[in-house]
Amino acid sequence: MEQDIRRKTVATILTDGDSSVGKTVDVKGWVRTRRGNKNVQFVALNDGSTINNLQIVFDLSKFSEEQLKPITTGSSIHVQGILVKSQGQGQSVEVQAQDLEIYGTAPNDYPLQKKGHTLEFLREKAHLRPRTNTFGAVLRIRHALAFAIHKFFNDKGFVYFHTPLITASDCEGAGAQFQVTTLPLNDLPKDEEGNIDYSEDFFGKLASLTVSGQLEGELGATALGLIYTFGPTFRAENSNTPRHLSEFWMVEPEMAFYEIADNMDLAEEFIKYCISYALENCMDDIRFLNDHFDKELISRLEFVIKNDFVRLPYTEGVKILEECGKKFEFPVYWGVDLASEHERFLVEEHFKKPVILTDYPKEIKAFYMKLNDDGKTVRAMDVLFPKIGEIIGGSQREENFEKLSNRIEELGLTGMDWYMDTRKYGTVPHSGFGLGFERLVLFVTGMQNIRDVIPFPRYPKNCEY
Ligand code: 4AD
Ligand code: MG
Repeated sequence: MEQDIRRKTVATILTDGDSSVGKTVDVKGWVRTRRGNKNVQFVALNDGSTINNLQIVFDLSKFSEEQLKPITTGSSIHVQGILVKSQGQGQSVEVQAQDLEIYGTAPNDYPLQKKGHTLEFLREKAHLRPRTNTFGAVLRIRHALAFAIHKFFNDKGFVYFHTPLITASDCEGAGAQFQVTTLPLNDLPKDEEGNIDYSEDFFGKLASLTVSGQLEGELGATALGLIYTFGPTFRAENSNTPRHLSEFWMVEPEMAFYEIADNMDLAEEFIKYCISYALENCMDDIRFLNDHFDKELISRLEFVIKNDFVRLPYTEGVKILEECGKKFEFPVYWGVDLASEHERFLVEEHFKKPVILTDYPKEIKAFYMKLNDDGKTVRAMDVLFPKIGEIIGGSQREENFEKLSNRIEELGLTGMDWYMDTRKYGTVPHSGFGLGFERLVLFVTGMQNIRDVIPFPRYPKNCEY
C-alpha cells in the first residue's frame, strides 16, 4: 500500500464523482456483498458514511481467488485503486482495485448475511444492527436532527444550559423516577420510625435520575433569558408501548418573557425547521426508508412543513371526540387525560394536520403550569402529530408566587424553596416545552417502534449492552 494517500470516505468519493475519475483513492470499510465470475469480482463496500455502497472491481488477472477468499459479507478491508467511470448500472463511479489489505474476516455465522432481516430480529442483534442499511440511515438522520436542534437554538441566541441528570426533585410529579443510591439494599439504615434513613445515603438525601431538566432550566431562563437543555431523561413507567422508552433524550427550551402563544409559535417553527433540515441534508437516507418501509414518508414530512398546525383548546377537542360517533377503547369526557387513540383521531381523522391542544384541566397537568382565569384549566400546550401522538409537552409557567405556593402546598410537594426563589426575586412571565427527541426521530424516519430509533434502547425488563 502506498503510505501517503489519505483515506477518503465513500460519501466523499461518491459526492466528488466524476471530478476524481482517474485518481488513486484509498478506501476502508465493511463488505456488504461479493459476486462475479472467473475474470472479475465485484465487492459492494460500505463504510457508514452514506447509505450508498462503493463498488470495488477486482480483476482476477491481478488478484488470485485465494487472496479474495476472505472477502465475505461482514469482513473489513482496505483497498487502493483507480477511480473509474462505471460500466455497470447503479453507480456512476467504481474503484479498479490495485492493492488489498484484509483487516478482519467475518466467519459465516455473521448474523447479517441476508438482506431483509425483520426489525424484531435486528432488535435481538442491536449490537450489530448499525451495520445494516436501515439502522445506518436512522442513525445518520438522528445525528442530523441533533445537529439541527443545536443550530436552531444557537442561531436564535439561546444558551445551551446543562441541567443535572441526578436530582433531588421530581419535575413531573408522576412518581416515575429511578432512585440513585449506594445504600446496601439488603441492609438498609432505618430511623426511629422505621423509615429508610437517607441521611446515610451517598447524597445525604433521596436522589433520583431526572425525568426532565425543566425546573433547573427555569433557573437558567430567569438569568440568561433564552436557554435550552438537550440530554437524557429517565422514566420508570411500566409502559411497554412503541412510543415509550425508559431512557430517552429530551430537548427543553425555556424562555423568559414568553407567553403561551409565543411558546406555540416557537414550537411550530422549531419542529418544521428540524424536519426541513433532515429533508435537505439526509435525502438519500430518507428516500431509502420511504421506499422500503413507508411509501408516504416524504409526502407526510413535506405536508407538515407546509401547513399551519391547528390550535385548539382541550375543551373543544373533547367536544369533537364526544360528538364524532366513533367507539373508542377508553371513554372520553371533560377532565380525562386523553389516550393516544383520542389524540390520533383529532390529528389523523378529524383535522388531518398536527394539532396543538391547549388549556387542559389543571388536575391532569403538572404543578408548575399557569392557572387560567377560569380557575379550572392551565396554560398547557401539547403538540400532537400524525402516527406519533404527543411529540411535545409544554406550558406557560405560573409566575405568581402566591398561586404557585398554594398549588405546591395542595399537592404536598416539599424541598422547592430554591425553585420558589425564581418567583420571589424578580419573577417574570416565562414558558417552555419539552420535545421527545426519539419521537421526532420516529416521525422523520417513519419507523414504527421507538426502540428502533435509539442505538441501545432501554425499556422494562431490558438492559442489554
Ligand atoms: O410531556 P412531558 O412529560 O413534559 C415534560 O417533561 C416537561 N417538563 C417539558 C417542559 O415543559 N420542559 O414530556 C415531554 C415530551 C413528551 O411530549 C414526549 O414527546 C416525550 O417527552 N416523552 C417520552 N418519549 C419517550 N419515552 C417516554 N417514556 C416519554 N415520556 C415523554
Ligand atoms: Mg406530556
